[in-house]
Amino acid sequence: MTGERRDAVSRPARKGIVLAGGYGSRLFPLTFGVSKQLMPIYDKPLIYYPIATQIMAGVREILFITTPEDRAAFQRLLGDGSQWGMAFSYAVQDHPRGLADAYRIGRSFLNGAPSVLILGDNIFFGHGLQALLDEAAGQPGATVFASMVSDPSRFGVVEIDAAQRPVTIEEKPVAPRSRWAITGLYFMDGRACDIADEVEPSARGEIEIVSVLQRYLDENSLSVERLHRGFAWLDAGTHESLHQAGEFVKTLQNRQGLLVSSPEELAYRHGLISLDGLAELADRQKQSSYGAALADLVAHEQGNG
Ligand code: G1P
Repeated sequence: MTGERRDAVSRPARKGIVLAGGYGSRLFPLTFGVSKQLMPIYDKPLIYYPIATQIMAGVREILFITTPEDRAAFQRLLGDGSQWGMAFSYAVQDHPRGLADAYRIGRSFLNGAPSVLILGDNIFFGHGLQALLDEAAGQPGATVFASMVSDPSRFGVVEIDAAQRPVTIEEKPVAPRSRWAITGLYFMDGRACDIADEVEPSARGEIEIVSVLQRYLDENSLSVERLHRGFAWLDAGTHESLHQAGEFVKTLQNRQGLLVSSPEELAYRHGLISLDGLAELADRQKQSSYGAALADLVAHEQGNG
């Protein structure tokens, strides 16, 4: 997940939205007191992983959409984002009305800018992810990221033709036309809010993201990036998947001695904070193995590691 240091200025000014609402009912009783997106995935809160993906996508301003009850906890954890060289703001969703509702809530924040929407429980990891994100950032219209799954009926599904273009998209189809699930990461141009305003709620009463994507598909401006073998796309929606995601991160980090999806490290590598800034962040949490790993990174970058 680490890459060369990048020049933030050369990237398009996409704004990010992290959708971290919902009640996490499949994680009860864990989520009676704490938001799902604040649960630990090994050594860091779940929300750090989608933030890492946003940093890699070139995003510098993020709007977090939370339940009214959890907003204060997210703000306590993440603040105004300046510690990571970013700008964070917060909005509440009082009732889960579907993913595309994020574009309605985020209208004034986006203010016509192109966007990257990510679900707060989606973890992306793999060699080559940076290149895929860079490619998507340069594409017009909308881009989705598709991952091969064994149980496509649980997801939005995209059918892809021989030229790698999307043919159909369907939300949780009973008879899926492919095994390519649409992951919870969506790049859209500046029209997303207007389109989301126009779509009708589905049979389950939600403003579906696939309805927005369908509009882009209809006008031939939907692209698909496929996450191939070796990519991990994980969510943490159930006890089993929450535990598995933690095990995955633990195994990888301990084996390689490298952090997975650390916002501090990525902020440094993308030129958002200096090495001194990174050292301060490491020092603040030096009692934990996470802080120690950041301190190792600082030492390495100073040429002492
Ligand atoms: C949502 C989307 C679905 C997508 C999935 C990815 O489903 O509606 O298209 O495949 O996220 O995590 P939900 O998790 O809301 O059931």
